Amino acid sequence: MSVIDEMKERIDIVELVSDYVPGLKKSGRSFRALCPFHSEKTPSFFVFPERGSWRCFGACATGGDIFSFIMKKENVDFGEALRILADRAGVPLAPREEKEFERLYEANEAARNFYHNLLLASPDAEFARNYLEGRGISRKTIEEFQLGFSLPDWDSLRKYLGGRGYHEDEMMMAGLLAQKEVGSGYDLFRGRLMFPINDAHGRTCGFGARALDEVTPKYLNSPKTEIFDKSAILYGLDRARVAIRREKLAIIVEGYMDVLTAHQHGITNVVASMGTSLGERQASAIKHYAKDIVMALDADVAGREATLRELDSVWHATQRRSGKYVAQEADVRVIGMPPGKDPDELIREDPEGWKRMVDEALPWADFVFNAVTSNLDPRDPRDKSAVVERLGPYIQAMPDPILRAHYIQRIAGLIRVDERTVDSAIRRPRPKGTGREQADATPPITGDPLEEHCLSLFLQHPELRGLGGGLSQDYFERIENREVFSAWQRYPDIDGIHQALNQSLHEHLDSLIYKELPPASERETGVALSDCIRRLRERMLRGLIKEQGELLFSGCSVEEPSQFEEQLIEVSKELKEIFSEEKRGWQGRTRG
Ligand code: UTP
Ligand code: MN
Repeated sequence: MSVIDEMKERIDIVELVSDYVPGLKKSGRSFRALCPFHSEKTPSFFVFPERGSWRCFGACATGGDIFSFIMKKENVDFGEALRILADRAGVPLAPREEKEFERLYEANEAARNFYHNLLLASPDAEFARNYLEGRGISRKTIEEFQLGFSLPDWDSLRKYLGGRGYHEDEMMMAGLLAQKEVGSGYDLFRGRLMFPINDAHGRTCGFGARALDEVTPKYLNSPKTEIFDKSAILYGLDRARVAIRREKLAIIVEGYMDVLTAHQHGITNVVASMGTSLGERQASAIKHYAKDIVMALDADVAGREATLRELDSVWHATQRRSGKYVAQEADVRVIGMPPGKDPDELIREDPEGWKRMVDEALPWADFVFNAVTSNLDPRDPRDKSAVVERLGPYIQAMPDPILRAHYIQRIAGLIRVDERTVDSAIRRPRPKGTGREQADATPPITGDPLEEHCLSLFLQHPELRGLGGGLSQDYFERIENREVFSAWQRYPDIDGIHQALNQSLHEHLDSLIYKELPPASERETGVALSDCIRRLRERMLRGLIKEQGELLFSGCSVEEPSQFEEQLIEVSKELKEIFSEEKRGWQGRTRG
């Protein structure tokens, strides 16, 4: 459940409104009071507890839910309303809203600047500067990625941060110090080349630190802290985000150096998994920005089995996210790297060749197929069943029956067993306890499909912006969609919208931007969007009529009944227009 839904569930709208509006009285199934937003003598302000909504039928002629009530009443934006209501409901907000870990980000950012300035100017960093130059890293790249150098002594960072008012326990919690058994902490990073690691929004939350000699470990990384978890972060995502979106493709490499070199060569949709197998949390993070992924896997380091597990986990993470529409699977492709090479070297040697490798990357299923069959002998009966056994789970998980049939055919051909036998061997129930069956279940639908479809169309088709003229915020019942719509009205581009929205809505925005829409021509998309807008309007008007009908039915009279009736008539007229338009449209379609 989203934070928004959780708050709606916990907060009783009648109680909330009563705190602000004196004299709220029960009237039938609703509650009624003098409108707090305009001055009047007869109450035209109603609260509908069953729907969790409120409306002024008088001069304001507006309504909404608990969030819009607080926004209007306290004259605050959505973020502030969220905070006020979270306090009230006792719902903890994500750290970023609460600013609880602000100091930890700030400490990491201060450390980043400290290390960066040392690398640029300190005589002690001479060797580090030469090292980078020797590896072909330009000054521009050093600045873009804010690379740094940590001095070899034990306490220069501790002293520097101390001088800037940071307490030692803050530095510790920020992952910047190591602890002696007794006594105070000392600098964790010493005499190393520093790679600041940022979250997707560009805030520094940790470091990777490369040794400049044969010391182990080669890379020392920040420990897990409240703001840093290596398994959830992709190195370079903050800088690659825009290009990934634009190119609708993310390239995932393993190392820091691979990212630097790629970006320096203008290949900017590249991020690093930082050495470990790409985790599910990383895979989901990337899916906010692109559906398609190319993974560059080290042939020798990862080894075959680890590689397969990695693919398996990505596969399942991406599958779960797309829920019901698994047929439109994310496209995961793999570059099998030549032994002993990494993208850093390949790009440097031959950038065009690298681009070709990306274009020719194998669909993951083919990669798995090749990997599994390459060291088995298809003529050996035992290997025959090994092929089926090891590929079976992958094939079974394929949502597309054509794809499934294709691989079954390939296996059958390879091991010279007929397809039906292969098929039934694969269908054999798998041993229980893998936990996958549960996880693959379609997630429950929260949200509002109509509103979200409409917003996705607008966000994914900027050329249709003009159609939004007739749309109003009031048409959106869900506050998160109302907020996105209002940001969309104010900003022409995704990044502007992103920045305008409260952090708690970023994930929602991303899901709208990357929602799979059925393929359609521009004209068809325009028609679909107009349709959506009409339906939203219709729904809003129907809601109005229903509320007003209920009020009339429960015997409420309003001071100016003429106005009330006028509204009702107007609404009915608009509805009628919509229906006849729809009928005309329908007739037109059947005739054409
Ligand atoms: P690599 O050993 O391939 O390093 O590890 P690299 O990035 O290519 O660096 P160079 O070219 O040797 O300078 C790939 C990634 O694995 C993680 C780092 O994120 C590294 O970039 N790693 C590796 C560690 O976290 N710790 C290590 O000790 C080694
Ligand atoms: Mn390397």
